[in-house]
Amino acid sequence: MSDAPENPPITPEAVDAAVQAAIDAVAAAADTAELKAARAAHSAEGSPLARLNAQLRNVAPAQKAEFGKLVGQARGRVNQAFAAREAELAEAETAARLDAERVDVTALASRARVGARHPMTLLQEQIADIFVGMGWEIAEGPELEHEWYNFDALNFDVDHPARQMQDTFFVDPVSRHLVMRTHTSPVQVRSMLERDLPIYVLCPGRVYRTDEFDATHLPVFTQFEGLVIDKGITMAHLKGTLDHAARVLFGPEAKTRFRANYFPFTEPSAELDLWHPTFKGGARWIEWGGCGMVNPNVLRAAGIDPEEYSGFAFGMGIERTLMFRSDVQDMRDMAEGDVRFSEQFGMVV
Ligand code: PHE
Repeated sequence: MSDAPENPPITPEAVDAAVQAAIDAVAAAADTAELKAARAAHSAEGSPLARLNAQLRNVAPAQKAEFGKLVGQARGRVNQAFAAREAELAEAETAARLDAERVDVTALASRARVGARHPMTLLQEQIADIFVGMGWEIAEGPELEHEWYNFDALNFDVDHPARQMQDTFFVDPVSRHLVMRTHTSPVQVRSMLERDLPIYVLCPGRVYRTDEFDATHLPVFTQFEGLVIDKGITMAHLKGTLDHAARVLFGPEAKTRFRANYFPFTEPSAELDLWHPTFKGGARWIEWGGCGMVNPNVLRAAGIDPEEYSGFAFGMGIERTLMFRSDVQDMRDMAEGDVRFSEQFGMVV
């Protein structure tokens, strides 16, 4: 006599039902723990299938082979289903664990990102190279400048309206006559006073104007100023020099054109336009800067005899140049220091 519930009689239907229940439970098991529970319920001792197997003992000898085969095949199918699902789950669980424990060996926490120079710095250097390549020197001057260099020595009268032409940041106390330089032209005067003749200098540097901060204006921006003082210098030299710079910066078809203009420190003076052959909206003339022949009054203020020497000067905005050259729509991007802007110009160190 046994305590176990009476074993059910073996019929093909009972075997199929037990197999189907086991296979459904296998398929529903979402992880190895659930599969283990399914095995206990459907294949281990006490499960319907195990009980059918135990019932083989009571089967009449004539039917033993037939029923033995029926139950044996059923157990084989169920075991196969368990084994297959077990392998599947084990593989998925290993993959999930490996994924969770993944170590990215290329991302060392201690490795600092390599920096790169700002596109403005790069362009400024490229411009400097053009002129250094022609034998010119780089000249510098202070950004906090004396009014005399910024205006007086450049032939701006005290009441000359041109003084208001450039929206000046005057620096307290007014009695000291200091301004944030409104252009790089004061470096013309400093160069003439400090250097021996002849003079061939390029001066890139920051300048300040009480301009709005918008897509095409910055209150602090950058110019490059050129100055040549030598014997027999003419406007043709100025034109040839600017055309050369334009071609290096904007391609072999680039050229410049002059439009009559007024600056107190040059005579004649010209607005300088650039023919931009690859401009985004189609090739066209765009205003690039100012230029002219150094005014004899400026030469005299610097102690140079205008009968003996003549010269030319020009000044352009580097932000504008970068805008045209690289199709930058908003100048503020150049001032804000977002690395995503700079990265587009390449990571040149
Ligand atoms: N300094 C002038 C400006 O900022 C540009 C210029 C430079 C004009 C040299 C003539 C000669 O507008």
